[in-house]
Amino acid sequence: MDAGQVTRTEVPEAFDEVAERYDLMVGMSPGYHAQLRASADALLSAIPDAAPVPAGGESTRPAGPLHLLDLGCGSGASTRALVEAVRRHATPGGRTAARPAAVLAVDGSPGMLDAARSKAWPSWVGFAQGRAEALAHQPELAAAREAGGLDGVLAAYLVRNVPDRDAVIAAIRDELRPGGVLAVHDYSVRGQPAASALWTAMCWSIVIPLGWMTSRTTRLYRYLWRSVIDMDSTAELEARLRRAGFVDVTTHHAGGWQRGIVHTVVGRRPADA
Ligand SMILES: C[S@@+](CC[C@H](N)C(=O)[O-])C[C@H]1O[C@@H](n2cnc3c(N)ncnc32)[C@H](O)[C@@H]1O
Repeated sequence: MDAGQVTRTEVPEAFDEVAERYDLMVGMSPGYHAQLRASADALLSAIPDAAPVPAGGESTRPAGPLHLLDLGCGSGASTRALVEAVRRHATPGGRTAARPAAVLAVDGSPGMLDAARSKAWPSWVGFAQGRAEALAHQPELAAAREAGGLDGVLAAYLVRNVPDRDAVIAAIRDELRPGGVLAVHDYSVRGQPAASALWTAMCWSIVIPLGWMTSRTTRLYRYLWRSVIDMDSTAELEARLRRAGFVDVTTHHAGGWQRGIVHTVVGRRPADA
C-alpha cells in the first residue's frame, strides 16, 4: 500500500487524488445518500423561511431567494441532497415553489469540483472553489451578504477536516443571517467504544482496501479512519457551536450500520445577533 500521511491542511489536495472515483466509493456505502438527505431535511426544517406561504396567507419573510451554502460540497452528493430538500420543502406535494432558492456549493479541491460540475444542476445552483478557512473572502457570497446573510449552511464531512474547527464555525456564523441555521453532518465515535470498534473494523476490512482498488491510493482513506477516531464527540461538537454563539443546538443520529457513527449537529444563529 502507498505510504504517506495526510494532514488537515492537505485534505483538499488528497481529495484531488481520488476525485474521479469518489462517487464509486460512496456509492458502495449503504445509507450515504439517505443520511445526507436527512441532514439537508433537518437543515431546511429548521429554517422557518424555507416553507411555502400558506394559500391566501401573508408573508413577513424576506423577499428574494433562500440563500444556502453547501460548504465542502465535494463531488456534489451533499449539494444534491440540499437541492432535493429544497424541492421537498418549497414545493410540498409538487406545488409551484413559493420561495426560490440559490445554492452555492464550495470546495477546496478542484478535482472534486470538476466532478460536481460535470453533473446536471438546476440554474439556481452554483459552484466555487474556496477554503473553509477563507470563507470571509469568498466573493460568490456577495449576493447572500447583500440580502442579509445566508439562511442555511450544510457542512457535510467538512468540519472534521479543517485545521481550526472553532475558526471555521465562527466564520460560518458570521455569514449566516440572524436566525440562520448551520447543519454539521459528520462521523463521530469518541466516547462510544462499540462504534469506535465498528468504525475501525469497517475501515481496515472494507474502506481502505476499496480505496486501493478504486484509486490505487490509501492515503486519504487511512486519514479518514484516523480523523474520525480523533474527531470531537457529539457533545464536544455541540459545545463548539454553543461557544461560537449558536442556540437551539441539537443532534440527530443516523440509523443503519452508521448508528452511533454518523450524526448531524444543528444550531441557529440567534435572531438578535
Ligand atoms: C468527504 S468529502 C464530502 C463531500 C460532500 N460534502 C459529501 O457529503 O459527499 C469532504 C470534502 O471537503 C473538502 N474539504 C476538506 N477540507 C476543506 C477545507 N478546509 N476547505 C474547503 N473544502 C475542504 C474536500 O476537498 C472534500 O471534497
